[in-house]
Amino acid sequence: MLEASRRWRSEGHSIGLVPTMGALHAGHMSLVERACQDNSRVAVSVFVNPIQFGPTDDLARYPASPERDLDLLRRAGVAAVYKPDAHVMYPPGAATRVRVAGVAERLEGAARPGHFEGVATVVTKLFNATEPDRAYFGQKDAQQVAVVRRLALDLDMGVEIRVCPTVREADGLALSSRNAYLGPEERTAAACLSAALGQAARAYQEGERNLDRLRLGILATLEAEPLARVDYAELVDPETFTPTGTLAVLAVWIGKTRLIDNHELAQAFPG
Ligand code: PAJ
Repeated sequence: MLEASRRWRSEGHSIGLVPTMGALHAGHMSLVERACQDNSRVAVSVFVNPIQFGPTDDLARYPASPERDLDLLRRAGVAAVYKPDAHVMYPPGAATRVRVAGVAERLEGAARPGHFEGVATVVTKLFNATEPDRAYFGQKDAQQVAVVRRLALDLDMGVEIRVCPTVREADGLALSSRNAYLGPEERTAAACLSAALGQAARAYQEGERNLDRLRLGILATLEAEPLARVDYAELVDPETFTPTGTLAVLAVWIGKTRLIDNHELAQAFPG
């Protein structure tokens, strides 16, 4: 991959990278489209990164659609699809991990020990393998964005991090590869995450500024859904993820599927 990227660079091209774990949906493709607008060469990585999954996570059953992914990417006009094997990414003897302190330790970091270390390590390796000018991430994973921004800044990576808005289904559910795990009743119930965010955004627009009351409103909406079990619902600072701010972040179990979503309450909720 590095050879191609260095050739593009010597030819004067700008290079965009979109890191993914495959099973591509319209959320991923919105990042790819944006990257294609901003750069003359776009690389998309497709790598289900084993080290960002915990022992009880869904690595073994993570969805895959390799042919469809390649077809979508080809049609979107990407210059290269980087699909390393796990033993190429992490050969025997590999012993280095990248750990971001602070922001990576809270919420998702606390709920999924080792997750952001896995993300930071693979993102570092993907950046090294492609040397992009810009890399594209989805607001859907707001804490991942904050961790990657911190990483790129702290390690002087010289990669500009661009963030794209969350793509949603008609009922508000954020697109996610994990939505495929939901049964029909669970799928209906899963709309409670976006409903709670939308309601809090409306309350904020109407002048509510008390963070405790906004948070309790979110919890009330989520708890009204019998199939939902709240892991966390917090109002945080979008950079540090410390618990005072207007970024509402949720992690909710719907049956055996854990979904996350977020919304900046100072912005109108779409739809
Ligand atoms: P993955 O879950 O495949 O997501 C790849 C990118 O697509 C991430 O930046 C994610 O935020 C974005 N994305 C997912 N759903 C989205 C939606 N509904 N709207 C907009 N963007 C969306 O995130 C990962 O992979 C991995 O952690 C990775 C960064 C590739 C490192 O392994």
